[in-house]
Amino acid sequence: MNYFVRLVLLTTAVASLNACVPDGPPETPVAGRWYTVEQVARGEVPFQQYCATCHGNAGQGTADWRKTDANGHYPPPPLNGTAHTWHHSTEVLQRTIANGGVPLGGAMPAFGAVIDDDEALDVIAYFQGLWTDDIYARWLSIESR
Ligand code: HEC
Repeated sequence: MNYFVRLVLLTTAVASLNACVPDGPPETPVAGRWYTVEQVARGEVPFQQYCATCHGNAGQGTADWRKTDANGHYPPPPLNGTAHTWHHSTEVLQRTIANGGVPLGGAMPAFGAVIDDDEALDVIAYFQGLWTDDIYARWLSIESR
């Protein structure tokens, strides 16, 4: 069997496999954003469970987030769009959630063991839901670069 035929067979097999897995009811897009209303709601649960202790239950972070502590670490910044979070692409945000800040000399713990990449997307949708349209547009220009 040549490579092309194999590829076609494989693609067909994957497509029919996918057809067996129900996607669930259609989700409701949030106007002008990449995520859905359902993702925001799903993301709020792990956010409140794992992130709110440091970043605040409305993503407000630490008031003095620009000032390092005695160990040279920055306190948890706001994730609500008033700090730097919009400077990071989705990929970087997912990596931050999975690996934390320790590998980069920071203090944030890693969450890869309890939040997978899909759940991280929901968490990102949740805190981006706290951003103004202006901040979101600035993030989008970084994301689509
Ligand atoms: C123990 C406190 C703590 C917890 C819990 C925590 N973080 Fe953090 N986070 C930090 C600190 C401190 C920083 C600043 C960078 C560093 O020191 O690692 C940070 C940085 C970040 C950044 C980068 C922000 C920016 O503006 O550059 C993101 C995104 C983030 N955290 C998301 C999360 C999410 C999502 C969760 C929950 C899954 C979470 N954090 C849980 C302490 C925490």
